Amino acid sequence: MRGTKRQIIAAIMVALCVIAGSAFAAQGTGKLKVQIPVAPEMYASTPQPLTASQCGQCHPSLYANLKDNGGKHRFDCQKCHTAFHVYNPKKGNYDAIMPKCANCHTDPHGPKVTDCAGCHSNPHAPKKIAITTKLTGACVQCHPGPQEQLTKFQSKHTKVACTRCHTSHGYIPSCFNCHKPHHEGQKVDTCTKCHPVHRPLQITYEKDTPAVTCGSCRKKAFGDWKKTPSKHGKVNCAVCHHGKHKYVPKCTECHPAPHAKGILARYPNCLTCHINVHDLPVGAKK
Ligand code: HEC
Ligand code: HEC
Ligand code: HEC
Ligand code: HEC
Ligand code: HEC
Ligand code: HEC
Ligand code: HEC
Ligand code: HEC
Ligand code: HEC
Ligand code: HEC
Ligand code: HEC
Repeated sequence: MRGTKRQIIAAIMVALCVIAGSAFAAQGTGKLKVQIPVAPEMYASTPQPLTASQCGQCHPSLYANLKDNGGKHRFDCQKCHTAFHVYNPKKGNYDAIMPKCANCHTDPHGPKVTDCAGCHSNPHAPKKIAITTKLTGACVQCHPGPQEQLTKFQSKHTKVACTRCHTSHGYIPSCFNCHKPHHEGQKVDTCTKCHPVHRPLQITYEKDTPAVTCGSCRKKAFGDWKKTPSKHGKVNCAVCHHGKHKYVPKCTECHPAPHAKGILARYPNCLTCHINVHDLPVGAKK
């Protein structure tokens, strides 16, 4: 046991002397000199700047932000970060070294909208914009139209906050999130044909709007019309009540001169004789 330990120590001593002898060969002259062979071939090339993916090896989450949501910012990191790895807490230079939007953008939303980071909180995902009070306070600055309509044409939507419908920026809600259709089977893409959403009571529609839609609220008229033997049963509701909700046509729009003038002067209301426009009494003679 003892013997082997001594042998090991001796061997280490010898090895150390050999190393010292070569590395500090010039010790005898009094100068300490390190001898390392030069390797000029290592300096033969010009290093290339790190690529985005190389930066990403150490900054994986930021790389992932750009990859997934960077949009048009998916270019070389160093186009923005002209200086990096120079943060010095003593100097407190963090803000100074960070890229400035104004280096590349000149007020894209007009001069009134400043403090870019207030909405674009992550420059590596510039279109991911959280619903903040800063954003909600500014909807109208960028989209004046909806607010104008909601105010000018009062409806119950006027009292619904923009962000109750647009729960994230750019999201278009389905009417069915909050409403049922008028009748079973009615498709959601029909809704805005009648109800422009920011002025839902300004109802307009085409002449081919199915009668069943009207019928879901107008049960009496629909019932009469559906079973009438008269020719009005072949005329779609929206052909007579055309264009705008609650429009009531004059009979003479379609029947300019049905009878002798004398009769019409005496009985100005056609329905005095024809009774129910949705279910005209028609003689058995026909
Ligand atoms: C469009 C310009 C732009 C591009 C491209 C860009 N950055 Fe940034 N980056 C910024 C801005 C602006 C900040 C400052 C954000 C702040 O103040 O919070 C920043 C901050 C940083 C930070 C420090 C803050 C943190 O979240 O850790 C790191 C690290 C960083 N970027 C790395 C990268 C890397 C890596 C890439 C490329 C893969 C990259 N950036 C691409 C604009 C950019
Ligand atoms: C070998 C790993 C490594 C690589 C590669 C790397 N970084 Fe960093 N970077 C760090 C570390 C560590 C920090 C300090 C800690 C932190 O802020 O995450 C840092 C901090 C930063 C910062 C914020 C502080 C400052 O001083 O600027 C930015 C910006 C940054 N890096 C950008 C880049 C960009 C751009 C690239 C590619 C050109 C890159 N980094 C490549 C490791 C790396
Ligand atoms: C090095 C230049 C540079 C810097 C710095 C920069 N951007 Fe950009 N940004 C661009 C370019 C280039 C585009 C694409 C422009 C285009 O297509 O019109 C862009 C596009 C955008 C877009 C639209 C993204 C998309 O996918 O459509 C937003 C939002 C944006 N930038 C916000 C910012 C904000 C906020 C800052 C500051 C934090 C910033 N940018 C800093 C160069 C830059
Ligand atoms: C009040 C919030 C807010 C502020 C402040 C703000 N932005 Fe935006 N920005 C947005 C929204 C919302 C979009 C639309 C994003 C989308 O298309 O989904 C946008 C889009 C952009 C676009 C894309 C251009 C386009 O018209 O599609 C650029 C570039 C941009 N912003 C840059 C900036 C810069 C630079 C600043 C600072 C001067 C800034 N933004 C300040 C909310 C804001
Ligand atoms: C700084 C300007 C800005 C602000 C603030 C802003 N937006 Fe936008 N918004 C845009 C831009 C730019 C677009 C994309 C271009 C477009 O389609 O008009 C957009 C798109 C939209 C869209 C999708 C439009 C479509 O046709 O698909 C909706 C919905 C929307 N914004 C609602 C809102 C609401 C609600 C707010 C307030 C919470 C808001 N925006 C705040 C600029 C802004
Ligand atoms: C009751 C729900 C609701 C409310 C409240 C609402 N929106 Fe909308 N908005 C919608 C729907 C649904 C659409 C899609 C309309 C379409 O496809 O015809 C839309 C479309 C939009 C669009 C894109 C089309 C356009 O008209 O420019 C913008 C921008 C917008 N809304 C902004 C706003 C703003 C700003 C407010 C608040 C002042 C607001 N909206 C209030 C439901 C709503
Ligand atoms: C986020 C929920 C929400 C969405 C999405 C929504 N609405 Fe509404 N809507 C309401 C509320 C709340 C009322 C008021 C209801 C009440 O008081 O009974 C209303 C009322 C209405 C009214 C009656 C207005 C009045 O003044 O009498 C119509 C018409 C209407 N909505 C149509 C639509 C259509 C069409 C869509 C889709 C384009 C839609 N809504 C999407 C919440 C919503
Ligand atoms: C052919 C036109 C038309 C279509 C399509 C239509 N509506 Fe209506 N809607 C009306 C009319 C007319 C009223 C009654 C308005 C009034 O009271 O002045 C109405 C009223 C409403 C009301 C408020 C009264 C109520 O019933 O609670 C809501 C909510 C509504 N519609 C939602 C919808 C939805 C959701 C869709 C799509 C599935 C839709 N509408 C499709 C014409 C239409
Ligand atoms: C939008 C056009 C339109 C309007 C408005 C209209 N009608 Fe008609 N009416 C028709 C058509 C189409 C016929 C069928 C004509 C044919 O087949 O020769 C018809 C037929 C009739 C007939 C014959 C019925 C039958 O079955 O033989 C009478 C009576 C009549 N209309 C009365 C009226 C009265 C009264 C009014 C007003 C209260 C009126 N119409 C409004 C389009 C209209
Ligand atoms: C031929 C034209 C014509 C057709 C088709 C028609 N209407 Fe009418 N409607 C009228 C006229 C004209 C009046 C006014 C009658 C009056 O002055 O009493 C009226 C009145 C109404 C009224 C108000 C009076 C009431 O009964 O409450 C409603 C609601 C109505 N129609 C719904 C409908 C519906 C729903 C349909 C389809 C199922 C329909 N109409 C088809 C011409 C028509
Ligand atoms: C004094 C009662 C009376 C009045 C008022 C009246 N009509 Fe008639 N109308 C009749 C009779 C009766 C017929 C014949 C029925 C038949 O021939 O079967 C008739 C027939 C019609 C016919 C069908 C003609 C055909 O060729 O089949 C139309 C259309 C018509 N009337 C429209 C009108 C219109 C529109 C008005 C109002 C401007 C009106 N009528 C007012 C009694 C009247």
